[in-house]
This record gives sequence, structure tokens and C-alpha cells, in this order.
Amino acid sequence: MTGNIVIEWTVPPVQGTEEMLQKAFRACMEAEKITLPAYAQLMITTDEEIHRLNREYRHVDRATDVLSFPSTAAHPGYTLGEHQNLLRREMDDTGACFLGDIIISLERAYAQAEEYGHSPLRELTYLTVHALFHLMGYDHMEECDKRSMRAMEEKVMENLGVTRVTDQELIKKAEEAMQFAYVPYSHYKVGAALLAKDGRIFTGCNIENGSYGATNCAERTALFKAVSEGCREFSAIAITAEKSAPWPCGICRQALNEFAPDIRVIVSCQGNVEESALPQLLPHGFGPGNGTLDYLGKE
Ligand code: THU
Repeated sequence: MTGNIVIEWTVPPVQGTEEMLQKAFRACMEAEKITLPAYAQLMITTDEEIHRLNREYRHVDRATDVLSFPSTAAHPGYTLGEHQNLLRREMDDTGACFLGDIIISLERAYAQAEEYGHSPLRELTYLTVHALFHLMGYDHMEECDKRSMRAMEEKVMENLGVTRVTDQELIKKAEEAMQFAYVPYSHYKVGAALLAKDGRIFTGCNIENGSYGATNCAERTALFKAVSEGCREFSAIAITAEKSAPWPCGICRQALNEFAPDIRVIVSCQGNVEESALPQLLPHGFGPGNGTLDYLGKE
């Protein structure tokens, strides 16, 4: 399969989108087993513009998150994968088949990302995947069509490594990481799993040292692994220990506050799970803005 998604921005682009959406396009084509070269066009724009297009082409007088305009006659029960003859007829002078147009409101993508607690990039990826399956003939009007569309979307999102992660899954990752704890002095094993807003999970364990003060806690191991790989936005951290509930120490609270002042903190010990949020664990915290001249100037 060859092909791509042609992205046009009428608003400032979100970093990482080009690479992720090309990957998403290829994953959708693969999931639908489309072997002919194909492409789609995507415009990422404002609420106002999507409202205008929705009114003009669909006679719906409001803004929305995503619109898709298929260029083939694919429809539920007659999707592109199984009916590639539909595509052959659509092949244009670029030598590829045009699947159709997609419009996304970046304002909506931002708002929905905030609501679901994930990154704008993850939301843009999901909206694009959803719209691409519409272009391929999928729909969600009938319950059974909806189920098969969702199954395709989930398969692709999983393939892209941007699934929704449950607290239980995060705790399990922390438990796995705990097995690697290096604790010859305290014998107190701790594991952590840090969930990034883009869906990645970074794990860590405590690593002790003969010079006790050089010990690194599990939370900071996970955090530093993430930051050193370019990841700085996080939504949750699960921390687990065998002997008692491992509420993060003061230094770890401070370290987390630097990057994720609102992070959810999930603590588990022998199946007992408790949760808090960093503002409760570190009230009146000193954050990255506090020491700057900008901040001091405002006082
Ligand atoms: N420890 C953590 O890994 N995380 C915490 O937040 C509390 C303490 C580790 C450090 C040391 O290896 C052991 O637990 C006992 O203090």
C-alpha cells in the first residue's frame, strides 16, 4: 500500500501531528486491507470555519469536532476493504484513489483532550482515525455498524500505541517494575508507572546506594526516564509497594510538581488502592513559575 494524508492547517500546527497522522493513515489502510494507493485530505481549522462548512454542506447550523466527506460510494455493509473496485474507479491523475475530505476543529480537539485528560495530539489522532473509517464506508447510526466501526478504531489506536489506560493496568505496570527494585539496605521495594498524556507509560523502581542519600525513588526513576525521552506531560502515576502504602516522599512530590502539578496519584499496596491528586499532596507547592523574574515582578 502506498498513500498518505495531505494535511492543511489554517491554525498554528500542533507539534508531532504530521508524523503521527501519516502513521495513523497507514494503520487505517492496513486495518481495512486496502492495497491500492490512496490518499485523503485533512484540513485542521477553527470552530468558526467548521461551523460554516457544516451549515453549507450539511445544513447543520453549529460547530462540530470533525466532518468527513467521502468521495467514494462506500457505505455500511459495502466498505472499501472488501470492495476495492469502488476505489479503482476513483483513481485520479495522481495515480492514487481519493478517499475524501476531512475537516477537524482544533478548538474542539483541544477542549475534548482537556475533558478526557489526554493530549491534543491524541485527540487529533482519534478524530482523524474516526473520520478515515467514515471515508472507508463505516458509520455509527445503527448499533451493529457502530460496533464494527469502534472495533476498527480501537485496533488502529492500539497499533499506534495510544490506547486508553485503566488505573488497574497502570498499577500492574508498577507492580512489574517493582520486581526490579534494588533495595539491599531498606528491603522496601517500590514500583511506579507514569502515564504520559500521549498514552506512553514509563516505569521505574527504587535504586538504593551504599551512600544512602544517593538513592533514587521509583517515582523519580520513572519521571526522569520520561523527561529524558522528550516526554513532559503526564496525567497519572501509579505507585506500589509490598509493605505499606507508598505515598510519594517530599522530593518526589516536588519533582512531579515541576511537570505535572495536577497529576493523579494512585497508590496501591497488596490490592488496597488509594488515590489523591498532587495539589492535595503538595499544597502551596513551589512551581516552575515561582522563581522567575516574571512572577516576582507581579508581586
Ligand atoms: N521510596 C520510594 O521509592 N518512593 C517513595 O516515595 C518513598 C521511598 C524508596 C526509597 C528507599 O529505597 C526505600 O523506599 C525506603 O525508604
